[in-house]
Amino acid sequence: MERTEKFKLHIKEGNTFKGDSIILGGAILDGQPLSDCNVCIPLKTLNRHGLIAGATGTGKTVTLQIIAENMAAKGIPVLMMDLKGDLSGIAVAGISNPKIEERHRLIGVPYNSVGNTVELMTLSKENGMRLRATVSEFGPVLFSKILELNDTQGGIVAVIFKFADDSNLPLLDLKDFKRLLQFITDEGKAEIEKNYGRISEASVGTIMRKVIELETQGAELFFGERSFEVSDLVRVDQNGRGIVSIVRLTDIQDKPKLFSTFMLQMLAEIYASFPEAGDLEKPKLCVFIDEAHLIFKEASKALLDQVEAIIKLIRSKGIGIFFCTQNPYDIPEDVLAQLGLKVQHALRAFTDKDRKAINKTAENYPISEFYKTEELLTSIGIGQALITALNEKGIPTPLAATHLRAPSSRMGVLNAEEIDRITAASLLSSKYNVEVDRQSAYEILEAKLNNAKAQTKEEEAEAPQPKPKSSVREEPSVIEKLSKNTMVRQVGNTVMREVARGLLGVLGLGGSTRRKKGLF
Ligand SMILES: Nc1ncnc2c1ncn2[C@@H]1O[C@H](COP(=O)(O)OP(=O)(O)O)[C@@H](O)[C@H]1O
Ligand SMILES: [Mg+2]
Repeated sequence: MERTEKFKLHIKEGNTFKGDSIILGGAILDGQPLSDCNVCIPLKTLNRHGLIAGATGTGKTVTLQIIAENMAAKGIPVLMMDLKGDLSGIAVAGISNPKIEERHRLIGVPYNSVGNTVELMTLSKENGMRLRATVSEFGPVLFSKILELNDTQGGIVAVIFKFADDSNLPLLDLKDFKRLLQFITDEGKAEIEKNYGRISEASVGTIMRKVIELETQGAELFFGERSFEVSDLVRVDQNGRGIVSIVRLTDIQDKPKLFSTFMLQMLAEIYASFPEAGDLEKPKLCVFIDEAHLIFKEASKALLDQVEAIIKLIRSKGIGIFFCTQNPYDIPEDVLAQLGLKVQHALRAFTDKDRKAINKTAENYPISEFYKTEELLTSIGIGQALITALNEKGIPTPLAATHLRAPSSRMGVLNAEEIDRITAASLLSSKYNVEVDRQSAYEILEAKLNNAKAQTKEEEAEAPQPKPKSSVREEPSVIEKLSKNTMVRQVGNTVMREVARGLLGVLGLGGSTRRKKGLF
């Protein structure tokens, strides 16, 4: 058989799926895109996660946009982490031009121009729906991981959460947490130690320092109410297209700690709230992280372990996560090993180290008799990539150098007016952008302690004569005073949440060892 025919058959056999799929572009043989040989990815294995890698300017972000908008077209809701502010254009229809027409003629796929229903979200004060979470929702284990605490310090955090639960003190923001941290070594010291064991002041000092560090990254904007419900990520518009939620993160690019805090919380929350799904025809939600090296760059070992654990487990909930980064080795190897779809754009070979990385990358792709992978990795053009996905049996599809289609939405950002229009139309903004001024741990403690002081003064004034010893009624303790009459709606029992999450294995060893020691 002629080589070209053999190649087409090879790609076609590997790209014919029983279920629905997405066309990414046309296969390339000997530098030429073929107009009758589509490269596709099946919806069924999108929960097996993916990687989009390649040098700057080779088309990673555009590929992300293509995959995301085609998922949306299939009714799959999408969540995008936009670290550079490149992704908002997905909201509006793209405009064709001769280059785009030519691209589509080459791959034999008609160009269509469509925008998406978009929700713009922010962690800080950018235009858009505010994303927030309460301290209590983090739970002691995740919160300790984020602060990079050791086991002893983590134990103290667990005590604080437990005490807050026992005393009906809602832990909403960092101010609440700091107040309790102060309380346990100050007014509440004796009581806390009686009920929960000895507390090391040095450890408390360290925790305080780390909380303040997190605050200097602007975290106080993120912690608090109204906290985000992940069910709001899973929506379709009136045309049945998945709604695309874009988290605009440009203003926290230089705050990796805040970003990884948010990411972990989001993933843990998604994990905890989505039911086991088994094998679905298509995922329930796909998450894209552009410039993913930014989360991994400064992440601690504990955090990385956490990300890895969640990525492994979240798959069975029907959630797919897609990382976009320059070098595949920006992603920790254990995470990399979990990624089913691989889209590799061109790499640049300037140094010896680059060449080694290219060889290593090539080794991670299925062997193909039609390609010299190392050579292709440095020679493919912009908007071209080497692609392999997983078929329905979980086996990698044949390696296909692919001339990608162009996005149906705009390749470029929204202008200020367009952003204003979208945020004004957002239903979620009116739900989440309200200032909730609820009494939480800080206010309640302050009020109670002031009360207790006033009461003691009054009692002293009323009874200047010391009573005979035998008739002294034992004074209610500070904690008893605190828990009395404190009928506040709890944010949810943090310890119970933690057990639920921990039992499911998301929180790994940290949670279970601590439980064994009897703190829970
Ligand atoms: N599939 C594509 N179709 C059309 N143009 C593309 C495509 N991929 C990339 N391009 C062009 O290349 C430019 C750079 O792509 P981009 O995705 O921003 O690169 P990266 O994210 O890798 O830095 C885009 O602005 C666009 O002009
Ligand atoms: Mg990019």
